[in-house]
Amino acid sequence: MTDLQTIEEMLEKCLPAASEGYGLLSEAMRYSVLGGGKRLRAIMLIESFRLFSDDRELEKYTAHPFACAIECIHGYSLVHDDLPAMDNDEFRRGALTTHKRYGHAMGILTGDALLNYSMELITRAGEELEKNKPDYYMDNMRNFMHAARVLFTNAGAFGMIGGQVLDVEGFGDERVPDREMLATLCELKTSKLFEAALCCGAILAGADESAVSLLGDIGRLMGLAFQIRDDVLDVTASFEELGKDIGSDEKNNKATFVSLFGLDAAKERIGELYGEMKSKLEVLPGDKTAFENLFDKLFMI
Ligand code: IPE
Ligand code: IPE
Ligand code: MG
Ligand code: MG
Ligand code: MG
Repeated sequence: MTDLQTIEEMLEKCLPAASEGYGLLSEAMRYSVLGGGKRLRAIMLIESFRLFSDDRELEKYTAHPFACAIECIHGYSLVHDDLPAMDNDEFRRGALTTHKRYGHAMGILTGDALLNYSMELITRAGEELEKNKPDYYMDNMRNFMHAARVLFTNAGAFGMIGGQVLDVEGFGDERVPDREMLATLCELKTSKLFEAALCCGAILAGADESAVSLLGDIGRLMGLAFQIRDDVLDVTASFEELGKDIGSDEKNNKATFVSLFGLDAAKERIGELYGEMKSKLEVLPGDKTAFENLFDKLFMI
């Protein structure tokens, strides 16, 4: 499994120094990204790359900057998700949320800056590839552009942000979502980044279309199971375990699998999804131990 320390060092290095730039913005960007986090999306992206390629040089020039970029996007989504206008939460990763620490305006601006920074990281990586590895650039630029498109589309209006809209605005006309609507919400707000992580890793490694599409399916199942698990933990876990506000969904009257169908049904659904993702994984090539372990760690209940 990609080791966490390598990812932490990459992130640490890629972000601007706290003293750079204007006001406390760089410091707040670092605070929001570097302060803990499981780094799931970065790990998934790199492990997905490794299913299809053992070229560590290509990994360094492509999968690594994408892994940093997806953590910046994820970090921004959490900073904005915690804002008073959204979930209004005070703690994240065992510390004050960014807007609690730096003020509301800085919460908004830090999120904006991180999203923009993710694009900067990727476009800069493209230039580095051209400068330092012209042969790789010629061979891989098409995959690189494709992966960038997939990442930003999945993070965008028809992906994660669309899901956050459904989460805060509901489904209109006071409708209580049914199972399918709720699944759609989770598949947008959470699965889309999981899908992006798996698909981008594979695309950058040159995987064929059918493998990328299968990884997209696995990402969708993982994201859905992960969000249901997050909703379960919001009710059953302690603040010490999660490092973030517990009972946030009830406070905000959120429709979740737990609030609509109960804890047992939610856990049962995670179990079903765990089975589905494992059987899809079997079809893929390469050493899949890292994914098997990740599935077990996250979804075996
Ligand atoms: C939290 O994601 C947001 C959800 C999609 C539920 P993570 O649980 O992956 O957050 P960190 O990065 O580990 O803090
Ligand atoms: C957040 O879902 C999903 C995002 C896209 C940020 P939640 O609102 O349940 O995440 P937590 O519980 O605050 O981490
Ligand atoms: Mg939320
Ligand atoms: Mg939240
Ligand atoms: Mg939650």
